[in-house]
Amino acid sequence: MKSTGANPELLQTESLTKVYGDVQPVYALKGINLTIRQGEFLSIIGPSGSGKSTLMNVLGLLDKPSGGSLKYLGEESVLWSEGRKSRFRNAEMGFVFQAHMLLPEFTALENVLMPLRIGKALNDKTAAKAQELLKRIGLGDRMHHRPGQLSGGQNQRVAIARALVNTPKIVFADEPTGALDSQTSVAVYELLREIHQDEQVTFVIVTHEQALSQKTDRVISLLDGEIREDSKRAEGR
Ligand SMILES: Nc1ncnc2c1ncn2[C@@H]1O[C@H](COP(=O)(O)OP(=O)(O)O)[C@@H](O)[C@H]1O
Ligand SMILES: [Mg+2]
Repeated sequence: MKSTGANPELLQTESLTKVYGDVQPVYALKGINLTIRQGEFLSIIGPSGSGKSTLMNVLGLLDKPSGGSLKYLGEESVLWSEGRKSRFRNAEMGFVFQAHMLLPEFTALENVLMPLRIGKALNDKTAAKAQELLKRIGLGDRMHHRPGQLSGGQNQRVAIARALVNTPKIVFADEPTGALDSQTSVAVYELLREIHQDEQVTFVIVTHEQALSQKTDRVISLLDGEIREDSKRAEGR
């Protein structure tokens, strides 16, 4: 890879499309061209229905594109088997959703350990990392509480720890503060920022809140399944 000073490309899409249904097709993504470099901290913003979640799910290999190219580290992921995709997802990606989606019958620590179990990567070292992450996000004294015993903001922090436990290259967060009050939102956002500064993780944060997106280094605006504006592109990099 040639060294230009900029971080290497992590993912690159070309004419990426997603169509739902065939009788009455919904063109949710209409040809997305996007490059994300390792270590970026960016947001995807747009009104409800503009395709933000669809884009996140396609980029996160949770949903198949209808057409176009999606390369990870130069490799065409569209050609990967389901097994390859899920291994890549488990090893290299973390997800935070609007609803924390923690398993209610498990403690905070067990929830954070779950991706390690699934990826058969649970050992003393990774288990220590899970505990360290929970301490780091201010839940050192809540590790053995279940989601029902924690507040919305605390649960979202646990979900963030879960997304980070496998040391992913990229974290996708879909409206991570959407269910939180504004004070808790700011705290969760600041936590993401801190983690970004400390670790070499790429963050893609989907939001419809301008106040949140303005705090990221790059803002991609979606409208009707198309990129309407990309602040980085506007800078002419
Ligand atoms: N599973 C689905 N089946 C059919 N249409 C869908 C599905 N998911 C999303 N859509 C449609 O695709 C468009 C984009 O939706 P979405 O990506 O959820 O937008 P956003 O996250 O920006 O609110 C919308 O018109 C939505 O109704
Ligand atoms: Mg959405």
